[in-house]
Amino acid sequence: MTNLSGEAVGSFSQEHPPTQSAEQDANAITSEAARRRTFAIISHPDAGKTTLTEKFLLYAGQIAEAGAVKARAGRKSATSDWMEMEQQRGISITSTVIQFTYRSHVINLLDTPGHRDFSEDTYRVLAAVDSAIMVLDAAKGIEAQTLKLFEVCAGRQIPILTFINKYDRPGKEILGLLDEIETKIGVRPTPVTWPVGISGDFKGVIDRRNNLYIKYQKMARGSKEAGEETCELNRATDLSPEMLEQTKEELSLLEAVGSDLDIGSFLEGKTTPLFVGSALTNFGVKHILDAVVDMAPPPRAQTDVSGGKRDLSEPFSGFAFKIQANMDPAHRDNVAFVRVCSGRFRRGMVITHEKSKKSFATKYAASVFGNDRNTIDVAYPGDVVGLVNAGDLAIGDSLYETLPVAYPPIPTFAPELFSYVTSKDVSKYKQFKKGLEQMAKEGVIQLYNDLDPVPNPIIAAVGQMQFEVFSHRLINEFKVPVEIRATKYRLIRKSGPECIKPLQNVSGAKVVKNQSGDIMVLIESPYWLSYIQGEYPDIFLSQISLH
Ligand code: G4P
Repeated sequence: MTNLSGEAVGSFSQEHPPTQSAEQDANAITSEAARRRTFAIISHPDAGKTTLTEKFLLYAGQIAEAGAVKARAGRKSATSDWMEMEQQRGISITSTVIQFTYRSHVINLLDTPGHRDFSEDTYRVLAAVDSAIMVLDAAKGIEAQTLKLFEVCAGRQIPILTFINKYDRPGKEILGLLDEIETKIGVRPTPVTWPVGISGDFKGVIDRRNNLYIKYQKMARGSKEAGEETCELNRATDLSPEMLEQTKEELSLLEAVGSDLDIGSFLEGKTTPLFVGSALTNFGVKHILDAVVDMAPPPRAQTDVSGGKRDLSEPFSGFAFKIQANMDPAHRDNVAFVRVCSGRFRRGMVITHEKSKKSFATKYAASVFGNDRNTIDVAYPGDVVGLVNAGDLAIGDSLYETLPVAYPPIPTFAPELFSYVTSKDVSKYKQFKKGLEQMAKEGVIQLYNDLDPVPNPIIAAVGQMQFEVFSHRLINEFKVPVEIRATKYRLIRKSGPECIKPLQNVSGAKVVKNQSGDIMVLIESPYWLSYIQGEYPDIFLSQISLH
Protein backbone atom coordinates (compact mmCIF):
# COMPACT_ATOMS: atom_id res chain seq x y z
CA MET A 1 0.00 0.00 0.00
CA THR A 2 1.32 3.41 -0.84
CA ASN A 3 0.19 6.89 -0.14
CA LEU A 4 -0.50 9.66 -2.64
CA SER A 5 3.16 10.36 -3.12
CA GLY A 6 3.79 6.72 -3.88
CA GLU A 7 5.53 6.04 -0.57
CA ALA A 8 4.78 3.05 1.59
CA VAL A 9 2.27 3.71 4.36
CA GLY A 10 3.52 1.88 7.43
CA SER A 11 0.25 0.42 8.62
CA PHE A 12 -0.22 -1.80 5.63
CA SER A 13 2.81 -3.93 5.97
CA GLN A 14 1.96 -7.26 7.55
CA GLU A 15 2.64 -6.29 11.16
CA HIS A 16 0.45 -9.12 12.35
CA PRO A 17 1.24 -12.18 10.27
CA PRO A 18 -1.59 -14.71 10.31
CA THR A 19 0.62 -17.34 11.98
CA GLN A 20 -0.30 -16.16 15.49
CA SER A 21 -2.81 -17.91 17.71
CA ALA A 22 -6.46 -17.25 16.89
CA GLU A 23 -6.80 -15.09 19.97
CA GLN A 24 -3.72 -13.02 19.17
CA ASP A 25 -4.95 -12.65 15.64
CA ALA A 26 -8.38 -11.45 16.78
CA ASN A 27 -6.73 -8.94 19.12
CA ALA A 28 -4.48 -7.71 16.34
CA ILE A 29 -7.48 -7.13 14.07
CA THR A 30 -9.39 -5.31 16.80
CA SER A 31 -6.46 -3.04 17.55
CA GLU A 32 -5.92 -2.30 13.86
CA ALA A 33 -9.63 -1.40 13.60
CA ALA A 34 -9.37 0.84 16.66
CA ARG A 35 -6.79 3.03 14.96
CA ARG A 36 -8.88 3.51 11.81
CA ARG A 37 -10.96 6.62 11.17
CA THR A 38 -13.11 6.34 8.07
CA PHE A 39 -14.98 9.48 7.12
CA ALA A 40 -16.21 11.67 4.28
CA ILE A 41 -16.18 15.41 3.77
CA ILE A 42 -19.49 16.77 2.60
CA SER A 43 -19.86 20.30 1.36
CA HIS A 44 -21.25 22.55 -1.31
CA PRO A 45 -18.95 22.95 -4.32
CA ASP A 46 -16.44 25.71 -3.59
CA ALA A 47 -16.82 25.59 0.21
CA GLY A 48 -13.23 24.35 0.45
CA LYS A 49 -13.33 20.55 0.51
CA THR A 50 -10.35 20.12 -1.81
CA THR A 51 -8.34 22.74 0.06
CA LEU A 52 -9.09 21.14 3.43
CA THR A 53 -8.28 17.66 2.10
CA GLU A 54 -4.98 18.89 0.84
CA LYS A 55 -4.18 20.57 4.14
CA PHE A 56 -4.94 17.31 5.94
CA LEU A 57 -2.32 15.65 3.77
CA LEU A 58 0.10 18.47 4.53
CA TYR A 59 -0.45 18.14 8.28
CA ALA A 60 -0.17 14.37 8.08
CA GLY A 61 3.19 14.75 6.39
CA GLN A 62 1.94 13.01 3.25
CA ILE A 63 2.81 15.91 1.01
CA ALA A 64 5.64 18.34 1.60
CA GLU A 65 3.82 21.29 0.16
CA ALA A 66 0.18 22.10 -0.55
CA GLY A 67 -0.74 22.46 -4.20
CA ALA A 68 -0.04 18.87 -5.17
CA VAL A 69 -3.60 17.52 -5.13
CA LYS A 70 -4.92 20.04 -7.61
CA ALA A 71 -1.92 19.52 -9.84
CA ARG A 72 -2.52 15.78 -9.79
CA ALA A 73 -6.20 16.26 -10.44
CA GLY A 74 -5.24 18.26 -13.52
CA ARG A 75 -2.95 15.52 -14.73
CA LYS A 76 -5.56 12.82 -14.27
CA SER A 77 -8.23 14.64 -16.17
CA ALA A 78 -6.03 14.57 -19.23
CA THR A 79 -6.41 10.81 -19.39
CA SER A 80 -10.09 10.40 -18.67
CA ASP A 81 -12.97 11.83 -20.61
CA TRP A 82 -15.35 11.92 -17.79
CA MET A 83 -12.91 13.39 -15.37
CA GLU A 84 -12.46 16.10 -17.97
CA MET A 85 -16.17 16.76 -17.58
CA GLU A 86 -15.71 16.99 -13.83
CA GLN A 87 -13.02 19.56 -14.30
CA GLN A 88 -15.11 21.66 -16.67
CA ARG A 89 -17.95 21.63 -14.17
CA GLY A 90 -15.75 22.03 -11.12
CA ILE A 91 -17.41 19.07 -9.46
CA SER A 92 -16.27 15.64 -8.52
CA ILE A 93 -18.30 12.73 -9.84
CA THR A 94 -15.81 9.95 -9.35
CA SER A 95 -15.54 9.37 -5.66
CA THR A 96 -12.10 8.42 -4.57
CA VAL A 97 -10.53 7.20 -1.39
CA ILE A 98 -7.49 8.77 0.15
CA GLN A 99 -5.61 6.98 2.89
CA PHE A 100 -2.94 8.39 5.14
CA THR A 101 -1.54 8.04 8.63
CA TYR A 102 -1.80 10.75 11.25
CA ARG A 103 -0.83 10.45 14.93
CA SER A 104 -0.47 6.67 14.51
CA HIS A 105 -3.97 6.43 13.13
CA VAL A 106 -4.95 5.26 9.67
CA ILE A 107 -7.25 7.83 8.13
CA ASN A 108 -9.53 6.77 5.28
CA LEU A 109 -11.04 9.83 3.64
CA LEU A 110 -13.79 9.00 1.18
CA ASP A 111 -14.61 11.67 -1.34
CA THR A 112 -18.18 12.60 -2.20
CA PRO A 113 -19.47 14.58 -5.15
CA GLY A 114 -20.37 18.01 -3.85
CA HIS A 115 -23.55 18.41 -5.81
CA ARG A 116 -27.18 17.73 -5.06
CA ASP A 117 -27.63 15.93 -8.39
CA PHE A 118 -25.33 13.23 -7.12
CA SER A 119 -26.97 12.85 -3.73
CA GLU A 120 -27.45 9.17 -4.37
CA ASP A 121 -23.75 8.66 -4.86
CA THR A 122 -23.07 10.54 -1.64
CA TYR A 123 -25.63 8.38 0.11
CA ARG A 124 -23.76 5.24 -0.91
CA VAL A 125 -20.46 6.67 0.28
CA LEU A 126 -22.09 7.59 3.59
CA ALA A 127 -23.06 3.94 3.99
CA ALA A 128 -19.35 3.16 4.07
CA VAL A 129 -18.12 5.77 6.57
CA ASP A 130 -18.19 6.02 10.35
CA SER A 131 -18.37 9.83 10.46
CA ALA A 132 -18.40 12.93 8.28
CA ILE A 133 -17.01 16.45 8.25
CA MET A 134 -19.44 19.09 7.08
CA VAL A 135 -17.55 22.04 5.57
CA LEU A 136 -19.47 25.29 5.30
CA ASP A 137 -18.39 28.53 3.68
CA ALA A 138 -18.77 31.19 6.42
CA ALA A 139 -20.24 33.58 3.89
CA LYS A 140 -22.86 31.17 2.61
CA GLY A 141 -23.86 28.85 5.42
CA ILE A 142 -26.03 25.93 4.35
CA GLU A 143 -26.78 26.34 0.68
CA ALA A 144 -30.00 24.99 -0.80
CA GLN A 145 -28.20 22.78 -3.27
CA THR A 146 -26.46 20.75 -0.61
CA LEU A 147 -29.13 20.80 2.06
CA LYS A 148 -30.27 17.41 0.83
CA LEU A 149 -26.80 15.95 1.35
CA PHE A 150 -26.68 17.18 4.92
CA GLU A 151 -30.19 15.91 5.56
CA VAL A 152 -29.13 12.50 4.33
CA CYS A 153 -26.17 12.56 6.65
CA ALA A 154 -28.28 13.61 9.61
CA GLY A 155 -30.97 11.08 8.64
CA ARG A 156 -28.44 8.25 8.80
CA GLN A 157 -27.38 9.47 12.25
CA ILE A 158 -23.77 9.70 11.16
CA PRO A 159 -21.64 11.61 13.64
CA ILE A 160 -20.83 14.95 11.97
CA LEU A 161 -17.97 17.32 12.76
CA THR A 162 -18.52 20.84 11.38
CA PHE A 163 -15.85 23.14 9.98
CA ILE A 164 -16.84 26.74 9.28
CA ASN A 165 -14.35 27.66 6.58
CA LYS A 166 -13.16 30.92 4.98
CA TYR A 167 -13.32 32.88 8.22
CA ASP A 168 -10.43 34.98 6.90
CA ARG A 169 -12.85 36.90 4.74
CA PRO A 170 -16.19 38.63 5.32
CA GLY A 171 -19.02 36.26 6.10
CA LYS A 172 -22.16 35.65 8.12
CA GLU A 173 -22.44 36.14 11.83
CA ILE A 174 -21.38 33.05 13.77
CA LEU A 175 -24.51 32.87 15.95
CA GLY A 176 -26.64 33.03 12.81
CA LEU A 177 -24.65 30.16 11.30
CA LEU A 178 -25.20 28.07 14.42
CA ASP A 179 -28.91 28.72 14.23
CA GLU A 180 -28.99 27.84 10.55
CA ILE A 181 -27.34 24.48 11.17
CA GLU A 182 -29.76 23.60 13.93
CA THR A 183 -32.94 24.70 12.16
CA LYS A 184 -32.08 23.45 8.68
CA ILE A 185 -30.59 20.05 9.39
CA GLY A 186 -31.73 19.42 12.94
CA VAL A 187 -28.30 18.77 14.42
CA ARG A 188 -27.25 20.97 17.31
CA PRO A 189 -23.83 22.64 16.99
CA THR A 190 -21.54 22.53 20.01
CA PRO A 191 -18.69 24.95 19.28
CA VAL A 192 -15.30 23.57 20.26
CA THR A 193 -13.43 26.57 18.90
CA TRP A 194 -15.10 29.96 19.02
CA PRO A 195 -14.07 32.88 16.80
CA VAL A 196 -12.72 36.10 18.24
CA GLY A 197 -13.54 39.00 15.93
CA ILE A 198 -15.91 38.79 13.02
CA SER A 199 -15.22 36.94 9.79
CA GLY A 200 -13.14 39.25 7.66
CA ASP A 201 -11.59 40.80 10.78
CA PHE A 202 -10.66 37.50 12.32
CA LYS A 203 -8.35 37.57 15.34
CA GLY A 204 -8.27 33.92 16.33
CA VAL A 205 -10.29 31.34 18.25
CA ILE A 206 -10.87 30.29 21.83
CA ASP A 207 -10.50 26.58 22.38
CA ARG A 208 -13.46 26.07 24.72
CA ARG A 209 -11.95 22.86 26.10
CA ASN A 210 -9.12 24.74 27.85
CA ASN A 211 -10.22 28.37 27.37
CA LEU A 212 -7.00 29.27 25.59
CA TYR A 213 -6.86 31.93 22.89
CA ILE A 214 -5.19 30.80 19.66
CA LYS A 215 -4.07 33.73 17.58
CA TYR A 216 -4.90 33.74 13.89
CA GLN A 217 -1.77 33.84 11.83
CA LYS A 218 -1.93 34.49 8.16
CA MET A 219 -0.05 31.97 6.08
CA ALA A 220 0.13 33.17 2.51
CA ARG A 221 -1.88 30.37 0.78
CA GLY A 222 -0.68 28.07 3.54
CA SER A 223 1.63 25.89 1.54
CA LYS A 224 3.49 24.98 4.75
CA GLU A 225 2.19 24.00 8.17
CA ALA A 226 1.23 26.94 10.40
CA GLY A 227 2.61 27.33 13.91
CA GLU A 228 0.26 28.21 16.77
CA GLU A 229 0.54 31.09 19.20
CA THR A 230 -1.54 30.39 22.28
CA CYS A 231 -2.27 32.37 25.45
CA GLU A 232 -4.97 33.02 28.02
CA LEU A 233 -7.68 35.31 26.67
CA ASN A 234 -6.98 38.06 29.24
CA ARG A 235 -3.36 38.18 28.15
CA ALA A 236 -4.08 38.64 24.47
CA THR A 237 -2.30 41.84 23.53
CA ASP A 238 -3.86 42.14 20.08
CA LEU A 239 -7.48 42.45 21.26
CA SER A 240 -9.26 45.70 22.08
CA PRO A 241 -11.09 45.84 25.46
CA GLU A 242 -14.43 45.86 23.57
CA MET A 243 -13.54 42.76 21.60
CA LEU A 244 -12.38 41.01 24.74
CA GLU A 245 -15.63 41.91 26.50
CA GLN A 246 -17.78 40.76 23.60
CA THR A 247 -15.94 37.44 23.35
CA LYS A 248 -16.41 36.82 27.07
CA GLU A 249 -20.10 37.58 26.76
CA GLU A 250 -20.48 35.17 23.87
CA LEU A 251 -18.64 32.47 25.75
CA SER A 252 -20.86 32.80 28.80
CA LEU A 253 -23.92 32.79 26.55
CA LEU A 254 -22.74 29.52 25.01
CA GLU A 255 -22.28 28.05 28.45
CA ALA A 256 -25.70 29.25 29.56
CA VAL A 257 -27.48 27.61 26.63
CA GLY A 258 -25.65 24.34 27.19
CA SER A 259 -23.72 24.25 23.92
CA ASP A 260 -20.84 22.30 25.38
CA LEU A 261 -19.15 19.46 23.60
CA ASP A 262 -20.95 16.21 24.33
CA ILE A 263 -19.35 13.15 22.76
CA GLY A 264 -22.34 10.88 23.57
CA SER A 265 -24.85 12.94 21.61
CA PHE A 266 -22.28 13.55 18.84
CA LEU A 267 -21.89 9.80 18.37
CA GLU A 268 -25.67 9.50 18.15
CA GLY A 269 -25.70 12.17 15.42
CA LYS A 270 -27.65 14.65 17.55
CA THR A 271 -24.97 17.29 18.10
CA THR A 272 -22.06 18.42 15.96
CA PRO A 273 -18.75 19.64 17.40
CA LEU A 274 -18.02 22.86 15.53
CA PHE A 275 -14.66 24.34 14.54
CA VAL A 276 -13.90 27.67 12.91
CA GLY A 277 -11.02 28.35 10.57
CA SER A 278 -9.60 29.06 7.18
CA ALA A 279 -8.35 26.08 5.22
CA LEU A 280 -6.59 28.33 2.74
CA THR A 281 -4.37 29.87 5.39
CA ASN A 282 -4.19 26.60 7.39
CA PHE A 283 -5.86 28.11 10.44
CA GLY A 284 -7.94 25.54 12.32
CA VAL A 285 -6.89 22.65 10.07
CA LYS A 286 -5.05 20.88 12.87
CA HIS A 287 -7.99 21.31 15.28
CA ILE A 288 -10.39 19.50 12.98
CA LEU A 289 -7.89 16.83 11.97
CA ASP A 290 -7.15 16.17 15.64
CA ALA A 291 -10.89 15.94 16.24
CA VAL A 292 -11.09 13.17 13.64
CA VAL A 293 -8.63 11.16 15.74
CA ASP A 294 -9.88 12.21 19.19
CA MET A 295 -13.65 12.41 18.69
CA ALA A 296 -14.72 10.58 15.53
CA PRO A 297 -15.56 6.92 16.13
CA PRO A 298 -13.45 3.99 14.93
CA PRO A 299 -15.19 1.18 12.99
CA ARG A 300 -17.78 -0.65 15.05
CA ALA A 301 -19.38 -4.09 14.70
CA GLN A 302 -21.63 -3.83 11.64
CA THR A 303 -25.29 -4.84 11.80
CA ASP A 304 -26.35 -7.55 9.36
CA VAL A 305 -29.76 -8.01 7.66
CA SER A 306 -31.13 -10.05 10.53
CA GLY A 307 -30.11 -7.37 13.06
CA GLY A 308 -27.16 -9.37 14.41
CA LYS A 309 -23.71 -7.88 14.85
CA ARG A 310 -20.64 -8.99 12.94
CA ASP A 311 -17.77 -8.66 15.36
CA LEU A 312 -14.74 -6.79 14.04
CA SER A 313 -12.46 -9.74 14.68
CA GLU A 314 -14.60 -12.30 12.86
CA PRO A 315 -13.40 -13.55 9.45
CA PHE A 316 -13.23 -11.07 6.61
CA SER A 317 -16.48 -9.51 5.42
CA GLY A 318 -17.44 -6.34 3.62
CA PHE A 319 -19.86 -4.79 1.18
CA ALA A 320 -19.55 -2.98 -2.13
CA PHE A 321 -20.72 0.62 -1.97
CA LYS A 322 -19.55 1.81 -5.34
CA ILE A 323 -18.93 0.26 -8.73
CA GLN A 324 -17.02 2.11 -11.38
CA ALA A 325 -16.10 0.92 -14.83
CA ASN A 326 -13.87 2.38 -17.49
CA MET A 327 -12.29 4.90 -15.14
CA ASP A 328 -9.19 4.79 -17.20
CA PRO A 329 -9.71 4.43 -20.95
CA ALA A 330 -6.46 2.46 -21.13
CA HIS A 331 -7.78 -0.21 -18.73
CA ARG A 332 -11.53 -0.42 -19.47
CA ASP A 333 -12.13 -2.44 -16.37
CA ASN A 334 -14.51 -2.59 -13.52
CA VAL A 335 -13.66 -1.63 -9.93
CA ALA A 336 -15.87 -2.50 -6.97
CA PHE A 337 -15.12 -0.41 -3.89
CA VAL A 338 -15.55 -2.60 -0.84
CA ARG A 339 -15.67 -1.38 2.75
CA VAL A 340 -14.06 -3.91 5.05
CA CYS A 341 -16.42 -4.61 7.98
CA SER A 342 -14.68 -7.44 9.79
CA GLY A 343 -11.49 -9.45 9.77
CA ARG A 344 -8.36 -9.05 7.76
CA PHE A 345 -8.44 -8.75 4.00
CA ARG A 346 -5.42 -10.31 2.29
CA ARG A 347 -4.91 -9.93 -1.41
CA GLY A 348 -5.28 -13.29 -3.13
CA MET A 349 -7.67 -14.65 -0.53
CA VAL A 350 -10.75 -16.48 -1.78
CA ILE A 351 -13.99 -14.73 -0.87
CA THR A 352 -17.64 -15.47 -1.53
CA HIS A 353 -20.17 -13.18 -3.15
CA GLU A 354 -23.14 -13.53 -0.81
CA LYS A 355 -25.84 -13.02 -3.46
CA SER A 356 -24.60 -15.58 -5.99
CA LYS A 357 -22.68 -17.74 -3.47
CA LYS A 358 -19.87 -17.77 -6.03
CA SER A 359 -16.31 -17.74 -4.76
CA PHE A 360 -13.44 -15.92 -6.40
CA ALA A 361 -9.81 -15.12 -5.72
CA THR A 362 -8.96 -11.47 -5.06
CA LYS A 363 -5.87 -11.34 -7.20
CA TYR A 364 -6.29 -7.69 -8.10
CA ALA A 365 -6.97 -5.50 -5.11
CA ALA A 366 -6.05 -1.87 -5.18
CA SER A 367 -6.43 1.48 -3.56
CA VAL A 368 -7.83 3.85 -6.12
CA PHE A 369 -7.36 7.59 -6.23
CA GLY A 370 -8.63 8.84 -9.56
CA ASN A 371 -6.61 6.88 -12.07
CA ASP A 372 -3.82 6.03 -9.69
CA ARG A 373 -3.85 2.51 -8.42
CA ASN A 374 -1.67 0.92 -5.81
CA THR A 375 -1.84 -2.70 -4.85
CA ILE A 376 -3.33 -3.43 -1.43
CA ASP A 377 -1.98 -6.53 0.28
CA VAL A 378 -3.70 -6.26 3.64
CA ALA A 379 -6.68 -4.26 4.87
CA TYR A 380 -8.62 -4.03 8.13
CA PRO A 381 -12.12 -2.94 9.21
CA GLY A 382 -12.73 0.62 8.07
CA ASP A 383 -10.42 0.33 5.05
CA VAL A 384 -11.66 0.42 1.48
CA VAL A 385 -10.42 -2.07 -1.05
CA GLY A 386 -10.90 -1.63 -4.80
CA LEU A 387 -11.52 -5.07 -6.30
CA VAL A 388 -10.69 -5.04 -9.98
CA ASN A 389 -12.97 -7.05 -12.28
CA ALA A 390 -14.57 -8.86 -9.35
CA GLY A 391 -17.35 -10.66 -11.19
CA ASP A 392 -20.93 -9.59 -10.87
CA LEU A 393 -20.72 -7.45 -7.77
CA ALA A 394 -23.48 -4.86 -7.53
CA ILE A 395 -23.85 -1.93 -5.17
CA GLY A 396 -24.75 -3.12 -1.68
CA ASP A 397 -23.62 -6.74 -2.24
CA SER A 398 -21.91 -8.46 0.66
CA LEU A 399 -18.71 -10.50 0.55
CA TYR A 400 -17.25 -12.83 3.12
CA GLU A 401 -14.56 -15.34 3.86
CA THR A 402 -15.70 -18.64 5.46
CA LEU A 403 -18.40 -17.30 7.82
CA PRO A 404 -21.41 -16.11 5.76
CA VAL A 405 -22.98 -12.71 6.37
CA ALA A 406 -25.40 -10.45 4.50
CA TYR A 407 -25.37 -6.73 5.19
CA PRO A 408 -28.52 -4.67 4.64
CA PRO A 409 -28.91 -3.27 1.11
CA ILE A 410 -28.08 0.40 0.59
CA PRO A 411 -31.43 2.12 0.09
CA THR A 412 -31.89 3.92 -3.19
CA PHE A 413 -33.20 7.42 -3.62
CA ALA A 414 -36.61 7.97 -5.14
CA PRO A 415 -35.74 9.54 -8.50
CA GLU A 416 -37.47 12.77 -9.47
CA LEU A 417 -36.67 12.85 -13.19
CA PHE A 418 -37.77 10.20 -15.69
CA SER A 419 -36.78 10.20 -19.36
CA TYR A 420 -37.07 7.96 -22.37
CA VAL A 421 -33.74 7.14 -23.89
CA THR A 422 -33.09 5.91 -27.43
CA SER A 423 -29.98 5.23 -29.42
CA LYS A 424 -29.51 7.70 -32.25
CA ASP A 425 -27.72 4.97 -34.16
CA VAL A 426 -29.99 1.93 -34.59
CA SER A 427 -27.12 -0.25 -35.73
CA LYS A 428 -25.59 0.04 -32.26
CA TYR A 429 -28.40 -1.56 -30.31
CA LYS A 430 -26.11 -4.10 -28.62
CA GLN A 431 -23.68 -1.47 -27.33
CA PHE A 432 -26.64 0.71 -26.31
CA LYS A 433 -28.09 -2.09 -24.21
CA LYS A 434 -24.72 -2.91 -22.70
CA GLY A 435 -24.10 0.76 -21.86
CA LEU A 436 -27.54 1.12 -20.29
CA GLU A 437 -27.01 -1.91 -18.10
CA GLN A 438 -23.54 -0.82 -17.07
CA MET A 439 -24.73 2.67 -16.11
CA ALA A 440 -27.59 1.17 -14.11
CA LYS A 441 -25.22 -1.23 -12.38
CA GLU A 442 -22.96 1.63 -11.36
CA GLY A 443 -25.96 3.63 -10.20
CA VAL A 444 -25.26 6.48 -12.64
CA ILE A 445 -28.98 6.30 -13.45
CA GLN A 446 -31.83 3.96 -12.48
CA LEU A 447 -33.28 1.89 -15.30
CA TYR A 448 -36.92 0.94 -15.92
CA ASN A 449 -38.81 -0.48 -18.91
CA ASP A 450 -42.37 0.24 -19.94
CA LEU A 451 -44.74 -2.64 -20.67
CA ASP A 452 -44.90 -2.27 -24.46
CA PRO A 453 -44.38 -5.50 -26.47
CA VAL A 454 -40.89 -4.21 -27.29
CA PRO A 455 -40.12 -2.44 -24.00
CA ASN A 456 -38.83 1.11 -24.13
CA PRO A 457 -36.17 1.97 -21.58
CA ILE A 458 -36.83 4.82 -19.17
CA ILE A 459 -33.90 6.24 -17.23
CA ALA A 460 -34.45 7.91 -13.89
CA ALA A 461 -32.33 10.24 -11.80
CA VAL A 462 -32.34 12.53 -8.79
CA GLY A 463 -30.69 15.35 -10.75
CA GLN A 464 -30.28 16.42 -14.35
CA MET A 465 -26.50 16.16 -14.25
CA GLN A 466 -26.80 12.38 -13.85
CA PHE A 467 -28.34 12.29 -17.34
CA GLU A 468 -25.48 14.39 -18.64
CA VAL A 469 -22.90 12.01 -17.20
CA PHE A 470 -24.92 9.11 -18.63
CA SER A 471 -25.00 10.44 -22.18
CA HIS A 472 -21.37 11.60 -22.00
CA ARG A 473 -20.26 8.14 -20.96
CA LEU A 474 -22.42 6.35 -23.53
CA ILE A 475 -20.77 8.30 -26.30
CA ASN A 476 -17.25 8.11 -24.95
CA GLU A 477 -17.17 4.57 -23.64
CA PHE A 478 -19.75 2.75 -25.76
CA LYS A 479 -19.65 4.96 -28.87
CA VAL A 480 -23.43 5.32 -28.82
CA PRO A 481 -25.01 8.74 -29.22
CA VAL A 482 -28.31 8.86 -27.35
CA GLU A 483 -31.42 10.96 -27.33
CA ILE A 484 -32.99 11.69 -23.96
CA ARG A 485 -36.62 12.82 -23.90
CA ALA A 486 -38.15 13.96 -20.62
CA THR A 487 -41.43 12.38 -19.55
CA LYS A 488 -44.06 14.21 -17.53
CA TYR A 489 -43.71 11.86 -14.55
CA ARG A 490 -42.22 13.05 -11.26
CA LEU A 491 -43.07 10.39 -8.66
CA ILE A 492 -42.52 6.67 -8.41
CA ARG A 493 -44.25 4.02 -6.32
CA LYS A 494 -43.84 0.28 -6.00
CA SER A 495 -46.96 -1.73 -6.84
CA GLY A 496 -48.08 -5.17 -8.01
CA PRO A 497 -49.57 -6.78 -11.15
CA GLU A 498 -53.08 -5.80 -9.99
CA CYS A 499 -52.39 -2.22 -11.04
CA ILE A 500 -51.63 -2.94 -14.70
CA LYS A 501 -55.18 -3.12 -16.01
CA PRO A 502 -56.86 -0.31 -14.06
CA LEU A 503 -54.01 2.13 -14.68
CA GLN A 504 -53.98 1.53 -18.44
CA ASN A 505 -56.40 4.39 -18.99
CA VAL A 506 -55.17 6.77 -16.30
CA SER A 507 -53.30 9.49 -18.16
CA GLY A 508 -51.30 10.67 -15.11
CA ALA A 509 -49.71 7.26 -14.49
CA LYS A 510 -47.51 4.76 -16.29
CA VAL A 511 -46.76 1.21 -15.23
CA VAL A 512 -43.14 0.11 -15.64
CA LYS A 513 -40.85 -2.67 -14.46
CA ASN A 514 -37.54 -2.27 -12.70
CA GLN A 515 -34.58 -4.46 -13.52
CA SER A 516 -35.63 -7.17 -11.10
CA GLY A 517 -39.03 -7.32 -12.80
CA ASP A 518 -40.92 -5.56 -9.97
CA ILE A 519 -43.96 -3.57 -11.02
CA MET A 520 -43.61 0.16 -10.40
CA VAL A 521 -45.85 3.10 -11.22
CA LEU A 522 -44.62 6.45 -12.50
CA ILE A 523 -47.00 9.24 -11.50
CA GLU A 524 -47.29 12.73 -12.90
CA SER A 525 -47.94 14.69 -9.69
CA PRO A 526 -49.22 14.47 -6.12
CA TYR A 527 -52.66 15.26 -7.59
CA TRP A 528 -52.59 12.07 -9.68
CA LEU A 529 -51.27 10.09 -6.74
CA SER A 530 -54.25 11.01 -4.58
CA TYR A 531 -56.58 10.47 -7.56
CA ILE A 532 -55.32 6.88 -7.94
CA GLN A 533 -55.48 6.26 -4.19
CA GLY A 534 -59.06 7.54 -4.06
CA GLU A 535 -60.26 5.84 -7.23
CA TYR A 536 -58.47 2.50 -6.82
CA PRO A 537 -58.10 1.82 -3.11
CA ASP A 538 -57.15 -1.81 -3.82
CA ILE A 539 -54.00 -0.86 -5.67
CA PHE A 540 -50.99 -1.19 -3.44
CA LEU A 541 -48.60 1.77 -3.72
CA SER A 542 -45.54 2.12 -1.55
CA GLN A 543 -42.60 4.51 -1.45
CA ILE A 544 -39.37 3.01 -2.73
CA SER A 545 -37.05 4.80 -0.32
CA LEU A 546 -36.95 7.10 2.65
CA HIS A 547 -36.09 10.10 0.53
P1 G4P B 1 -14.32 22.56 -3.17
O1 G4P B 1 -13.34 21.45 -3.25
O2 G4P B 1 -15.22 22.48 -1.99
O3 G4P B 1 -15.09 22.79 -4.43
O4 G4P B 1 -13.52 23.92 -2.92
P2 G4P B 1 -11.97 24.26 -3.10
O5 G4P B 1 -11.17 23.69 -2.02
O6 G4P B 1 -11.56 24.00 -4.50
O7 G4P B 1 -12.03 25.84 -2.85
C1 G4P B 1 -12.79 26.69 -3.65
C2 G4P B 1 -12.17 28.07 -3.66
O8 G4P B 1 -12.21 28.61 -2.34
C3 G4P B 1 -10.70 28.08 -4.09
O9 G4P B 1 -10.46 29.31 -4.74
C4 G4P B 1 -9.97 28.08 -2.77
O10 G4P B 1 -8.67 28.63 -2.85
C5 G4P B 1 -10.88 28.96 -1.93
N1 G4P B 1 -10.76 28.67 -0.49
C6 G4P B 1 -10.75 27.48 0.14
N2 G4P B 1 -10.63 27.65 1.47
C7 G4P B 1 -10.55 28.98 1.69
C8 G4P B 1 -10.38 29.77 2.87
O11 G4P B 1 -10.30 29.29 3.98
N3 G4P B 1 -10.36 31.13 2.67
C9 G4P B 1 -10.45 31.71 1.44
N4 G4P B 1 -10.42 33.02 1.37
N5 G4P B 1 -10.60 30.98 0.32
C10 G4P B 1 -10.63 29.64 0.44
P3 G4P B 1 -10.36 29.40 -6.30
O12 G4P B 1 -10.12 30.83 -6.61
O13 G4P B 1 -11.55 28.74 -6.92
O14 G4P B 1 -9.13 28.50 -6.64
P4 G4P B 1 -7.59 28.84 -6.49
O15 G4P B 1 -7.30 29.72 -7.64
O16 G4P B 1 -7.41 29.54 -5.18
O17 G4P B 1 -6.95 27.51 -6.56
